[in-house]
Amino acid sequence: MSSKLLEVKNLAASFKTERGLMKAIDGISFYAQENEILGIVGESGCGKSVTCQSVLRLYDEKHLVKLEGEILFDGENLLKYSEKEMEHIRGGAISMVFQDALSALNPVMKIGDQIVEGILLHHKELSKAEAKERALNILEQVGIPAFRERFEQYPHELSGGMRQRIMIAIALVCGPRILIADEPTTALDVTIQAQIMNLIVRLKEEMGMSVILITHDLAVVAETCDRVVVMYLGQIVEEADVKELFLHPAHPYTRGMMMSIPSMSEEKPERLYVIQGTVPLLSQIPSGCRFAPRCEYATQRCREAMPELEELENGHKVRCFMAQR
Ligand SMILES: Nc1ncnc2c1ncn2[C@@H]1O[C@H](COP(=O)(O)OP(=O)(O)OP(=O)(O)O)[C@@H](O)[C@H]1O
Ligand SMILES: [Mg+2]
Repeated sequence: MSSKLLEVKNLAASFKTERGLMKAIDGISFYAQENEILGIVGESGCGKSVTCQSVLRLYDEKHLVKLEGEILFDGENLLKYSEKEMEHIRGGAISMVFQDALSALNPVMKIGDQIVEGILLHHKELSKAEAKERALNILEQVGIPAFRERFEQYPHELSGGMRQRIMIAIALVCGPRILIADEPTTALDVTIQAQIMNLIVRLKEEMGMSVILITHDLAVVAETCDRVVVMYLGQIVEEADVKELFLHPAHPYTRGMMMSIPSMSEEKPERLYVIQGTVPLLSQIPSGCRFAPRCEYATQRCREAMPELEELENGHKVRCFMAQR
C-alpha cells in the first residue's frame, strides 16, 4: 500500500455572493497516493474546480471568504503556509493544468520565455542558458514537433492541442510530485484529447508523480485512473478503486452517471438514461441527502437526514442510506 502524499481533510470553501455566503464545497476529505492517478468526477458546478483550486489556494481573495479544514502535503498543513511559502509550492511540488490553455498563457510573451520564467522562479541557482536548455528538453518530452522553432513563437501561433502540451510542459518542468489536471482536454477535439491523456499517463510513469485528474468523462476515468472520487453538490458521495466503482457503483448518482453513457455493445440502443432534474443552486441546498430530490430511491429518511460517507469494504465509501444497509 503506497503512502498518502496529499491528504485533504474536511475541506470547506465559502464564497461571498450577491445572495450571501455560499459554501461551494463542504466537508471534502480525500487523499492521493504516490504514483497514482486519482479521478474526481461529477456534474458541472459540483465543486471539482473549487476543491483543486483550494488545495493550491488559487482563489480570488476578494470572493473567497473562508477556507476551513486541513490540506496535508507530506504531512504538513498547507492551509498554515504563508502566501510566500505557497508560491514556492505552486508550480514546484504541486502544479496545475487548466481547461483553457489560451487564457492561462501570456499572449504577448514567447512560449520559450514563459517556460524559462517558470524554471527561474523555482531554481534561482540556474543560469538563463541552463534554464533554456531545460525548457527545450521539456518541450521535446511533451512531444512538440520542431520545438526549437516553437520556443520562439507566441501562444496564438499554436493549435489548441499544442498549447495544452505547452501548459503541461510548464506544469512539469520543475518536476512536481503532484500534477492537478482540471479538465485538461475538454476544449480539444476527440483525437487530440486521447493524445493529451496518453501524454499525461506516460509522463506520470516517467516522472513518478501523482496525478489528480478532474473530468466529466467517465470513459477517460475508466481508462486512466486508479481510484475515483465522485462529487455531488459540494460533497463527496462515493469513493472507490476504479474497477470496483465500475463493477459495483453504490450511489444512485454514480449509477445514473454510468447509465447515461452510450454503450457500443447494444445493437439497438434504447433511449439513454437521464438523471432527472438538475443540480440545485448553492442557495437552495436541500435538507437531508443532497441528491434526494433527484433520486428515484429516496425515502422520507433521505429527505430528513444527511447520510455520512461510510466505508462498505476495502476503501469503497458511499454516502447513501440505501447502499449502506
Ligand atoms: N468565485 C466564486 N464565487 C462564488 N461562487 C463560486 C465561485 N467559484 C465557484 N463558485 C461556485 O461554486 C460551485 C462549484 O463550482 P466549480 O467551478 O468548482 O464546479 P465544477 O465542478 O468545477 O464545474 P465544471 O464541471 O463546470 O467545471 C458552483 O456553484 C459555483 O457557482
Ligand atoms: Mg471546473
